[in-house]
Amino acid sequence: MTTRAAHWDAIFASKKDTELGWHENDVSQTLKFIDPLPQQEAATVFLPGAGTSLLVDALLNRGYKLILSDISEVALRNVGQRIGKHEHVTLLHHDIAQPLPASLAFAVDLWIDRAVLHFLLSENEIQGYFANLHAAVRPGGHVLLAEFSTVGAIKCAGLELHRYSLEEMSMRLGNDFALIASEEHTYTNPSGQPRPYIYGLFRKNGARS
Ligand SMILES: C[S@@+](CC[C@H](N)C(=O)[O-])C[C@H]1O[C@@H](n2cnc3c(N)ncnc32)[C@H](O)[C@@H]1O
Repeated sequence: MTTRAAHWDAIFASKKDTELGWHENDVSQTLKFIDPLPQQEAATVFLPGAGTSLLVDALLNRGYKLILSDISEVALRNVGQRIGKHEHVTLLHHDIAQPLPASLAFAVDLWIDRAVLHFLLSENEIQGYFANLHAAVRPGGHVLLAEFSTVGAIKCAGLELHRYSLEEMSMRLGNDFALIASEEHTYTNPSGQPRPYIYGLFRKNGARS
């Protein structure tokens, strides 16, 4: 087990979900970007660093197929226990900076990242993340990135962060993606601290919508 995985496992093993510094009881801030999208039958959503987010339950209720990926086996076990065995859910223990399985090439309709990308610090890791995203999201698919903004906190979960602007998100996604919605949103964490995020919703060029 890597040091990083152990760090996250220790957090998920020692805290209730409601005590996690990023916990949302209400996931409508994400859903308001997702719900207006045209939903194809059995569309596949990929959640890098899914953690134990209640977004999982909301997406299942909407009929999506889910790939829940996380570096923490404990997080995957906890979320798996909560939702129970589900034919539409795949749990993938994986470091999102490392190459995804080739079977995921163009298999993802919607990629949703809340508070994961910003933990990748080295250029190698960031490029690994975006190479995965480019390979997995189908033409016409969508990507929602929600990261600490440039005025946000410099650390989360005891780890340093690479904070994002909309411009950097767009630059890293490149010409294949068009920005279709964005918002600066301040999340209040369970300790009452404000945590400014930037949300960017992008569409990958391609024939199908
Ligand atoms: C701040 S939490 C956010 C969890 C979830 N996205 C949410 O909004 O509730 C960060 C999550 O990313 C996971 N994570 C951190 N680094 C990762 C990496 N390199 N690859 C995959 N998952 C990672 C952590 O285990 C944790 O579940």
